[in-house]
Amino acid sequence: MKNQNKKFYITTPIYYPSGNPHIGHCYTTVACDTIARYKRWQGYDVMFATGTDEHGMKIEESAAKAGNSPQEYVDEIATRFKKLWAYMNVSYDRFIRTTDEHHKSSVQKIFTALHDKGFIYKGEYSGKYCVPDESFWTQSQLVDGKCPECGRDVIDAKEEAYFMKMEPFAKRIEEILTSTDYLQPSVRVNEMVNNFIKPGLEDLCVSRTTFKWGVPVPFDQSHVVYVWIDALTNYITLLGYENDAHNDFDKYWCDMSEGNVRFHMTAKEIVRFHSIIWPAILMALDLPLPTKLYSHGWINFDGKKMGKSTGNIIDPFVLGERFGIDAVRYQILREMPFSGDFDFNNELMLTRINTDLANDLGNLVSRTVAMVIKYFGGTLPEEQTADDSLDTELISMASGIRAKVDELIETPQLSAALSEIFTVISRANKYIDETTPWILAKDDSNKPRLARVLYNLLETVRICSSLLSAFMPTSMPKVFAQIGCCDEGEAVNEHLVSYESAEEWGVFPATITVTKGEIIFPRFDVSKELMLD
Ligand code: ME8
Repeated sequence: MKNQNKKFYITTPIYYPSGNPHIGHCYTTVACDTIARYKRWQGYDVMFATGTDEHGMKIEESAAKAGNSPQEYVDEIATRFKKLWAYMNVSYDRFIRTTDEHHKSSVQKIFTALHDKGFIYKGEYSGKYCVPDESFWTQSQLVDGKCPECGRDVIDAKEEAYFMKMEPFAKRIEEILTSTDYLQPSVRVNEMVNNFIKPGLEDLCVSRTTFKWGVPVPFDQSHVVYVWIDALTNYITLLGYENDAHNDFDKYWCDMSEGNVRFHMTAKEIVRFHSIIWPAILMALDLPLPTKLYSHGWINFDGKKMGKSTGNIIDPFVLGERFGIDAVRYQILREMPFSGDFDFNNELMLTRINTDLANDLGNLVSRTVAMVIKYFGGTLPEEQTADDSLDTELISMASGIRAKVDELIETPQLSAALSEIFTVISRANKYIDETTPWILAKDDSNKPRLARVLYNLLETVRICSSLLSAFMPTSMPKVFAQIGCCDEGEAVNEHLVSYESAEEWGVFPATITVTKGEIIFPRFDVSKELMLD
């Protein structure tokens, strides 16, 4: 296999378990899952990681509100995240929690190393302080000059804290951002360079004394490590950097062979930490940098970012029960533009499900299978007649689609990749109208031509469903079973749905046998469903 020795490491952000996971978290995780599955299919050696970011004052507070200890509280919510990923058929290889012992001890070693190298120093943090909330805010975080959490007055205050120097890394970071395609989409590059690097990078506050729920600074126990050094380093501690829990750091992070990828995905609000702070930490540690950072937009609801603090969240479990997991996966992957946001609403989702999944894909599969059964008893005959004028366009579109999807996955433009695959599916539906199998079936002398038409449709469905299985991993095996990709005993014949076979035409034997199956994507009655809201 072509990509066999290449390493592909992909990560989601590690999410705060300060509330239940919602459809926004789902987007990043499902997008990473799709890429991870596609890369495995291409033959890459993939490590796909996700996890939870469990320290900090917010968690301490949420736990207190719930009447639990922070550890009990994060244990429960981390379990909910894991359940959701299992429910959404997310194929992560490793789940890290920042409360894992191996992570905590690595963070302490990293903090000490940065201190010993002179990059971390003790200073004073000054800012706007809310006494009842015991929290510091920057001027820009204040709402009408008051605490954004509780609305009360804030005072000017100072606190002893450790800082990490940023300036030594600024030039190199700017170069990477501006002269490589490390950060995508490129609109974010200008934001980072103009808003943060050009005005001069500020040193980063990396410790706090106002809360206890964190990793203690090993040489100064009144401080805990403040959020970003604890959070960002998860990407290497989970591979075994500075710990014995795992042994994959050299393999997935340090192997500089051509074609190896270290890929982070986040939404745009934390792009600064991933495009500036994270490279700075790695440079300070003399470690290789990630090769790719993609920062997508937001799923909004009524024009506002869906989020725990806004409370406008959509529960993926509820959506999945109502519409099906793969319909949810499809909808969010299809709607999120490469560099913008999208507003979630049920009507849009129902229209997508009905149009793309039920009408275009679902009908193509069920009509094709039904015709093979009706006209040939389920197995096509050997004798088949091609018709170049009608077949050529469909065949060239179907056999050329894998190359297009390969390219779009790289960027990654998942919505565009789906749109390309569905263009082929629509073309196949048009091919049915053009070839009119029901008319061919009226005359026995047309049977060889009819057989070829159905064969071409099955081949097109085989290629499209193989490509779609990274996006909709639960329902595509059901398509495989119906169109004849399963051997007796129901195991998928891997050769028929392999990466290589997805760009070859004519992989099915002429005498392929289909099997009638359940409706894969049911249609919804839009007005009835919307009344349920
Ligand atoms: O920021 N639309 O955790 P977090 C799209 N712990 N994506 C969304 C979203 C939305 N409405 N809401 C959340 C943190 N996300 C830190 C990260 S990483 C070292 C530390 C997704 O729970 C998106 O990926 O606030 C976003 O970046 C992430 O969840 C924020 O998760």
